[in-house]
Amino acid sequence: MTKPEGWGDALFPRKIAACRKCDRLVAYCASFQQPENQKVPGFDYWAKPVPGFGDRKARLLIIGLAPGAHGANRTGRPFTGDGAGEVLYRALYRQGFSNRESVLDRQDGLLLNGVYITNAVKCVPPKNRPSGEEKQRCLPWLVDELDALKEVGVVLAMGKDAHDAYLRYLKERGVIQTVGAYRFGHSKVVRFEKDRRILVATYHFSRYNINTGVLTEEMVDALFEKLKKLL
Ligand code: URA
Repeated sequence: MTKPEGWGDALFPRKIAACRKCDRLVAYCASFQQPENQKVPGFDYWAKPVPGFGDRKARLLIIGLAPGAHGANRTGRPFTGDGAGEVLYRALYRQGFSNRESVLDRQDGLLLNGVYITNAVKCVPPKNRPSGEEKQRCLPWLVDELDALKEVGVVLAMGKDAHDAYLRYLKERGVIQTVGAYRFGHSKVVRFEKDRRILVATYHFSRYNINTGVLTEEMVDALFEKLKKLL
């Protein structure tokens, strides 16, 4: 495990962006520098690992799966520029956690208040599916972020991969014995005997889940109301 950098170190996000640990993901990220692989023509694609973003004094941490190919992998900020992000950032605005209802790119002036957003895996994976080894190799970045975000009291894990990544962090830190003992379920709240942080799980805010009605914006609002009570 790497040592936490501490938030005084402005190089921390740069270190994440410079990570080259996974050959397959490095090559896949870089492929988006080619215009023929870009869905948003003329946009200067980030095409690197995407660091977390938000309020360093956050009490709520949101963990997604991995950057979307034409969302975070394009803009360089988690959930910025894709369908899941539209739902997430609209909800954060409605709930008073941000200053912008819609987001565009890294220069849009978005400020988050009390929330930090990151991904379990920092690079866009082919077919949106990181391998087990890639997830494990990326975990130290999440560990560093979690160790540095000292005020976080509630962790919202978006989807099973994010949920399990957080449980792997807790296992690293000796809080739990086994990851498999905890079942993923939407809106499920877990408290741990040896750690004050609360874990809440949610279905991913993906366009697919919204379009199929697995998740609705009413469910998203209900979830945030619950989170606010827990904070
Ligand atoms: N964009 C992200 O940054 N993360 C996700 O999990 C999905 C879209």
